[in-house]
Amino acid sequence: MPTSSRTPYVGGNWKMNTDRAGARELAAGVCEHLADVEGVEAAVFVPFPYLLTVREALDKAGKRVKLGAQDVSDRENGAYTGEVSAAMLLDSGVHAVLTGHSERRHVIGEDDALVAAKTRAALDAGLEVVVCVGETLEQREAGQTDAINARQARAALAELRADVLGRVTIAYEPVWAIGTGRTATPDDAQDAHAKLRALVGSMHGQAAAGAMRIIYGGSMKPSNAAELLAREDVDGGLIGEASLKAADFAAIVRAAAES
Ligand code: 13P
Repeated sequence: MPTSSRTPYVGGNWKMNTDRAGARELAAGVCEHLADVEGVEAAVFVPFPYLLTVREALDKAGKRVKLGAQDVSDRENGAYTGEVSAAMLLDSGVHAVLTGHSERRHVIGEDDALVAAKTRAALDAGLEVVVCVGETLEQREAGQTDAINARQARAALAELRADVLGRVTIAYEPVWAIGTGRTATPDDAQDAHAKLRALVGSMHGQAAAGAMRIIYGGSMKPSNAAELLAREDVDGGLIGEASLKAADFAAIVRAAAES
């Protein structure tokens, strides 16, 4: 039962996993499993060194799975050792990037301002962006879930022009659910997504809010995807561990297509 006109979106975040041969095989496997699946957008977010390899594998398979990177610099070019610019990513055949992933916020130490600057840099260059938000366990237990989501989303989206909003997806990823096997309940996810959509509406208007995809991440797997994706404001998923197995990732994409 379709619950909205938004096309479902499922991303596989490979994180710092795979090697070159494995990345090629995984990308080809994803395409093979999705050969007959329509009505959904899928993307793989790949480690930097394997972007070109995966680009080739996706092109060879001829299936329109988008190529994504896991990070991007907020700078255009210049003396920033180790950084990778949005223009370099575009030049490497990348369509989309993640910003604000909790591992970058909480492990690497990125703050709201840097996440916002990266989001703007990627959008200005023409990339699509999946902006990740979500509360830690401590914040959840202190009743701060909505406030944290709102603060992070507001910071990332505040200065965006109306004409780039169509290239923005929000991923709600409660930190306590990432890689832990604990998943938010469908009610928890729906509640957080509806509040994020209302926030987007208050910032950028109802049309933009209604069109924006808000996807869930945190231990989503084939066995729990359908019940999460059935909820009205859950427009897809951002998948970590289960995206490293082509069949599991494809099963989630299929569930999204059928949601
Ligand atoms: P897991 O699916 O492994 O919990 O990871 C979720 C995630 O962080 C996706 O970005």
